[in-house]
Amino acid sequence: MNIKIKQGNDIKVFECDKNILISDVVKKSGFYLPMPCAGKGRCMKCLVKVEGNVSAPEKHEIEYLKKIGYPNNYRLACKTFLHGDTAIELPTATNAKIITDIKYNKKTESSMKVEGYELGIAIDIGTTTIAAYLFDLSSVSLLKSTSAVNPQTIYGADVISRIEKSLDGSGHELAVSIRTELNRLISYLSEDKEIKKAVITGNTTMLYLLTERDVKSLSSAPFEADSLFGYEISAASLGIAGVDNIYLPNCIAAFAGADLSCAVLSQEIYGSKRKSLIIDIGTNGELYLSTENGAFCCSTAAGPAFEGVGITMGMTASESAIYKVWDEDGEVRYNTIGDSSAAGICGTGVLDAVATFLKLGCIDETGMINKDNNFYIYRNGEKCLKIDDGILLTQGDIRAVQLAKAAIRGGVDTLIHHAGIFAEDLDEVIIAGGFGSSMDISSAVRVGLIPAELEAKSYAVGNASASGAVMVLIDPLNRKILKNIAYDVKYLELSSDSVFSNNFIEAINFC
Ligand code: FES
Repeated sequence: MNIKIKQGNDIKVFECDKNILISDVVKKSGFYLPMPCAGKGRCMKCLVKVEGNVSAPEKHEIEYLKKIGYPNNYRLACKTFLHGDTAIELPTATNAKIITDIKYNKKTESSMKVEGYELGIAIDIGTTTIAAYLFDLSSVSLLKSTSAVNPQTIYGADVISRIEKSLDGSGHELAVSIRTELNRLISYLSEDKEIKKAVITGNTTMLYLLTERDVKSLSSAPFEADSLFGYEISAASLGIAGVDNIYLPNCIAAFAGADLSCAVLSQEIYGSKRKSLIIDIGTNGELYLSTENGAFCCSTAAGPAFEGVGITMGMTASESAIYKVWDEDGEVRYNTIGDSSAAGICGTGVLDAVATFLKLGCIDETGMINKDNNFYIYRNGEKCLKIDDGILLTQGDIRAVQLAKAAIRGGVDTLIHHAGIFAEDLDEVIIAGGFGSSMDISSAVRVGLIPAELEAKSYAVGNASASGAVMVLIDPLNRKILKNIAYDVKYLELSSDSVFSNNFIEAINFC
C-alpha cells in the first residue's frame, strides 16, 4: 500500500505493509513528531491528520478529540494502524526555544595552551534538546553555536521511556537517531574542517544511549550504573564523522549525570567555602548542594509538567506558546512566543498561570479551584480557570504542577536536611537548564518550588551543563576536577529516603 506523509512543504511517499502503526512509519520516514508518552496513548500529543484506510479510534481518543474540538480525521499516530493507502499530514516541526547561553571560565593552564589553529566542539545532549558549540582552541574563542530538538523525543519525553524502548530492543535505533543528529550538527558547525576533539556531555541515560550500552543497570534497583564514563573514545567507534576523539565526562550516578557534574564545574563551586545549591529542573530534576561539610546531590522525578507535557493545553516552548502570564487590575495577561495568537501554554506559562491564579485567590492552598471568581469555568466534567478563549488551566493541570513542584522542593529540602543546615544559610541558588533559565523566579517562589527566603539569592545561569563541557574542552586539566566532583559527593537515593517522603508530602500544598 502507498503512504504519503506531509510535513510543511516536505512530502515523502512510501510503500509499506498493512497493519503498521502510523508512528512507526513516521519514525522510518525521518520526519519529526513529538511522542512524549512514547506511544502509550496517554499524552495525546501525537495527533496527525489522516485521510485513507485506517483502524477505528478507541473510546478515549474519540472523547479527547471532542474535548479539544478537533474533527475526527485527526488521529493519534501511536494508536492508529494503517489498513490501506493513506495520506498523513504531520504538524509543522516546532522551532523549539532552546537555551544555548553559556558562561565559562576561559582561564587555561599555560602548559596546556594549544599552539596554532585547532578546532574543538562541546555538545550537551539534553533529554529534550541538544546544544553544540564550535571553539577555536588556540584563542579560546567561541566561533559558532547551534541547537536542535533531540530526535529521540519520538521515543518518549523522559529518560524512563527511552530506557524502556532500549530494553525492548530499540537500543540501536536510539543510538543511530542521536548519532545522525550529532553528525548533522557537527558538519554544520565545522563546515567540514578538521575537528581534533569534542566533549559530549549529557545525563547518564543520554550517554548510555549514545554509546549503545546495555541500559539494564539503569532500569532496576539498586539503580547502579555499570559505567559512569569519564574517558576518551574514538569518534569513529560511535559512528561520528569529522572528529578524531570524543571525551565523555564523568557521571555521578544512574540519575545524576555528566550534565550535573559539568554544571558544578562551570559554576566553580566545588571546594568553595560558599554554600551553593544548583537546581536543574527537568522531567528528571537534578540537585547539587555544596557546603563546607561536603557535597550532596540527588535526582527527583518531577515529570514533564514543566515542559508543557501532560497539561491539557500544554505545548513545548515554541511559536504561539504562552510563556508568560501575570495579572493587571484583576485581569489575566499573557505573552506568547513570536507574539502570535495563543495555541497553547508551555512550562513557564503554566508555572506563571498557577502563581497568578493563586495570587488572585482562584486556587486555594490545597490546590483546589475556587468557583467564586470571573475566571472559573466548568468544561468537560472538570473545573477550569480561563486564561483566554479556548486556553484553560484545568484542575488536573494544577495537580500535575503540584506533583512536579513537590518533587523538586522535596529534593531541595532533603538535601538541606542531610547537609545539616537551614535554607537561609545558603549563599546562592543557581538555576540551571532551559526551563529554569526562562522561568520567573517570583512565580517559582509563589508556588513553593523555591523557598521564599532564597528568592533574592536565586539566579539563572543558562545551559550550565554545556558551559562545563566547554571548560573541559578548552582545558583538559578540568577533567581531573570533574572527576573529583563526581567522586567527592554523597548521592542521596530519594526513593528510599523517609526524609524525602515527608518533605514531598509537605510540599504538595501551596503554602
Ligand atoms: S498519545 Fe501518542 S505518543 Fe502519547
